[in-house]
Amino acid sequence: MKDKYGRNIEYLRISLTDRCNLRCKYCMPEEGIHDKKTHGEIMTLEEIYEVVEICTELGVKKIRLTGGEPLTRLGVTSLVEKISKLDKVTDISMTTNAVLLKKYAKELKEAGLKRVNISLDTLNEKKYKEITRLGSIKDVFDGLEEAKKVGLLPIKINIVLIDRFNDDEIEDFVELTRNEDIQVRFIELMPIGQTADWARDYFVPNTIVLERIKELEPVEIGDKSSPARYYMLPGGKGKVGLINPISHQFCRNCNRLRLTADGKIKPCLHSDQEIDVLKTIREGGNVKEVMKSSILKKPLKHHLNDGEAIQRSMARIGG
Ligand code: 5AD
Ligand code: SF4
Repeated sequence: MKDKYGRNIEYLRISLTDRCNLRCKYCMPEEGIHDKKTHGEIMTLEEIYEVVEICTELGVKKIRLTGGEPLTRLGVTSLVEKISKLDKVTDISMTTNAVLLKKYAKELKEAGLKRVNISLDTLNEKKYKEITRLGSIKDVFDGLEEAKKVGLLPIKINIVLIDRFNDDEIEDFVELTRNEDIQVRFIELMPIGQTADWARDYFVPNTIVLERIKELEPVEIGDKSSPARYYMLPGGKGKVGLINPISHQFCRNCNRLRLTADGKIKPCLHSDQEIDVLKTIREGGNVKEVMKSSILKKPLKHHLNDGEAIQRSMARIGG
């Protein structure tokens, strides 16, 4: 279905949980998120499926499962299986930190998952432990290998660029695209939620990727709604993406809605506006009408000015 500005809304991002098995410094405080939801406040998998089904009737074709960490949610494979059986769904993918991916990749593939985006901010074991506070990079590498083996392709690696932390690894990440059809995407740090101050201190614009690696050549991709601009090394097999999550350029082509784990529809990532669809479900209301009005509430563009930060943390929105 089209929104007020003629944008065709066909992409739904679903946060399956606000919990995570890591504590990335830019995302969560050490002790985990403060306003964690209890079980009763979180959508059941059946409720999520109900929303997905209705969204597909309204034209949604692409689904992405996110978190927190989606693989910490019990029953994720069965949800993937049910969603992938919906006729109108052409693409179902997941954003994961890959710590548990070795274990789940095969069953997810068999259940119909098409591909994964893996969050990995460094290739160095010690630095990985430092930024995630809890993670072991070997688990991620194992998960990545398994994803390749079972064919969850193409693999995209999301790197949040952090000044004085991983800007010295830009070359190494880009190098991964030389011989392999992999996408590495540099995401600018957003000041969000409880870690907004931290993010402001360590922000670095992703244009430094182009300054450091002069050979990168811009390439066109078909998908205009993608928030990434893409580049390639001459003769390289993979792609390098730059994502500026706050740029207004993407608002024009924005085709997405977000569903949070506690059942709120967010028409725009950069706005605190939320519509409580879970309440509608539990009160036996008309979910389809609520979804339609949520689509019509999508703003033309966000109003994030410098210094302003939205309240809900990334782990509770789902990236
Ligand atoms: N700024 C940019 N990206 C973020 N992510 C989490 N918090 C932030 C932030 N403040 C990223 C994760 C992951 C995706 C879900 O969102 O690293 O790649
Ligand atoms: Fe977990 Fe992702 Fe947040 Fe890291 S950025 S703590 S992996 S939700």
